[in-house]
Amino acid sequence: MTPNTGLDAVKHFKSTAWTSAERAQVYDRNTNSTSDLTHFLTTEFIGALQQRIAPGSAVLDLGCGTGVLTKALAMLGHDVTGVDISQAMLDQIDTGTGPGRITLRQGNVFALPFADASFDGVITRWVIPHFRDWPGIVREAARVLRPGGTLVIDHTSRANYALAAREAVLDHTAFGYDPRVRGGDANGFYAAATVDELQLAADSAGLELVDVAPLGFFRQNAVFAAVLGAEGHAAYRKAVDAFWQDPGARAFIQWFERHVTRALPLEMANGMAAVMKKRA
Ligand SMILES: C[S@@+](CC[C@H](N)C(=O)[O-])C[C@H]1O[C@@H](n2cnc3c(N)ncnc32)[C@H](O)[C@@H]1O
Repeated sequence: MTPNTGLDAVKHFKSTAWTSAERAQVYDRNTNSTSDLTHFLTTEFIGALQQRIAPGSAVLDLGCGTGVLTKALAMLGHDVTGVDISQAMLDQIDTGTGPGRITLRQGNVFALPFADASFDGVITRWVIPHFRDWPGIVREAARVLRPGGTLVIDHTSRANYALAAREAVLDHTAFGYDPRVRGGDANGFYAAATVDELQLAADSAGLELVDVAPLGFFRQNAVFAAVLGAEGHAAYRKAVDAFWQDPGARAFIQWFERHVTRALPLEMANGMAAVMKKRA
């Protein structure tokens, strides 16, 4: 049945938008680079989980898509399960990728097909910010985590949008994410969060919020989009890609993202990485 109102309609739209084989192939092509800035940031993001789990852990990748995180975690030797609503996305994943085992399962992140306390670690990238009722995903992740286990999520920073709005008018179309669009406009809808909202979601799921840090100053920043406008922002993105090709500039961007960005206030970048731990 196709729900046609409110959050259920958004959820349905978001969940079915990904199911075509053609879309899955394009998505796989667009995300499989192992040498761009996004890959670097993803590796840093995975590091937040890697440093908190034992070798060979049972790890779940929520909304794994074409398996960027799933495969990277298997390369690190973990026993990884990737779950996604879209079989077409799952079909792109080579399950023989790493020394670690990869298991794939079609399923809904709001109602996971796994028993309580099945995993040592849960991670998710580029899924949470799609759903305004994202705390429901955090609750499900907490349910399937073992006591003491770690959840690592990405989100978008409400404070970054607020700073952008203080500086200039933000062209959300150019920027891509629009947290102002309300349920019903499934196409445009994205979520954002403050630390308080992350804290509330963690508390209500029986998790401790261990860390929240900005992720990706250069990659995606609403302040840049606001002050530069649509054309200027497109040119900015091209410039970052061009600088990335230069080894010296790339080394500087990597150093900045690793050592400076994570210590900045959350308003300074659009992406955030949050680490939560299941209470024993
Ligand atoms: C932007 S992609 C991110 C994929 C992957 N995590 C990555 O980092 O490349 C969003 C993914 O969420 C999946 N998805 C959307 N709604 C879902 C749901 N309700 N349950 C499970 N997966 C869902 C989509 O099929 C898609 O693969």
